[in-house]
Amino acid sequence: MKEKDPFVCAAFHAGSADPKPVHDLVNRWEGAQGTHHSVAERTGNGERGLEEDHWMSPKTSDAHAWVTKHLAPLMKSGDDLEKFDATLPARMPSYDKGEWTGFKLIALKYYLKPYLTILARRTKVAYVDFFAGPGLDRIGKRRVELPGSPLLPMMIQEAPSDRWFSHFFLCEQNPEYFEALNRRAQAFLPHPSDLTLTCSDANEFVHQLPALVARNGIGHCLVFVDPEGLEWSWAAMRMLATSVRCDVVINFPSSGLQRVSTRQDVRPTISRFLGIPESELPDVIDEEWALNCYRQNLARLGKDISTEIRITDFGAYHYDLIPAVTSTSTGSPWFKTWTDLRKRIDGLHGKYLGIVAQQVDGVLGEIG
Ligand SMILES: C[S@@+](CC[C@H](N)C(=O)[O-])C[C@H]1O[C@@H](n2cnc3c(N)ncnc32)[C@H](O)[C@@H]1O
Repeated sequence: MKEKDPFVCAAFHAGSADPKPVHDLVNRWEGAQGTHHSVAERTGNGERGLEEDHWMSPKTSDAHAWVTKHLAPLMKSGDDLEKFDATLPARMPSYDKGEWTGFKLIALKYYLKPYLTILARRTKVAYVDFFAGPGLDRIGKRRVELPGSPLLPMMIQEAPSDRWFSHFFLCEQNPEYFEALNRRAQAFLPHPSDLTLTCSDANEFVHQLPALVARNGIGHCLVFVDPEGLEWSWAAMRMLATSVRCDVVINFPSSGLQRVSTRQDVRPTISRFLGIPESELPDVIDEEWALNCYRQNLARLGKDISTEIRITDFGAYHYDLIPAVTSTSTGSPWFKTWTDLRKRIDGLHGKYLGIVAQQVDGVLGEIG
């Protein structure tokens, strides 16, 4: 089903106008710290090799070091992408948004290592990005280049070198973005991996995915669902969860959904997104209610929902990253990754990322 509501998309992604004072941002950041536990301690499964780099260690327990550590390699990859773009005959588009975009990329980066370390040892794994964008993001007023969600797992390799995505399935509907994605993905695709690019509606591509996964002998997928607003239907989510073995990370547009919930023209789209008949939607949709419905519906499909991560920006704007992983009798060993990420990121203002990016670029001196 094709359904487009430009207002809904635009409304969720307006620009930032309300920077918080730096000391306030830093205080909130410092207040969000957690403590280190080894993977074995958390899971009891004896997995090795994640402690040093992936999990907080005493060396990196300070927030500033942590965000720098994760942002700097992304910025380096962004530079590499920009250099590649300079070799092309025409200028390619980028996805230009506020600094909050960077936190979602850091969360994705953070999850890749335990996912690959544990799962790619057992089976062939693929990365699926349904709303891929053009492959290069530029964030904030300084337009700091970072690899978009489809390029990030191609360019950042932190798991052991024999653990890799054997296939990338990328979907993007906008033809201009698709062309740019195609160029960039072809250039940065790791040698052992295959690539399937599709220029279509994600809600349609999801029907092709199970056969593609089976044909390529893929045992498990990491799926990133990052629409701009409410473009991902619940029917598509159900199709994905019931036909492909996967962990899914969904960008849930919490505050945007609540804000447009009383608009009669948007309510059919909300109903389609949540998978709840329009007649059963409350008059005003509280975001916690919506999140809870989504969580419960995912649980009915056999998905465990780990802790959501709230990413905040200007005013009351925020979204939640929902990690939905396949339930197993022993639990998922990487499930706790999200609890740790939450301690690091939850409730932080996107502006902080911009400050750290300026430091990495040498524009600012040290904070604190
Ligand atoms: C939030 S952006 C994705 C950004 C990307 N994940 C990143 O981190 O760089 C959403 C993307 O989905 C695309 N899009 C919108 N509706 C779509 C649909 N129904 N199917 C596939 N792609 C769609 C938009 O063109 C846009 O590039």
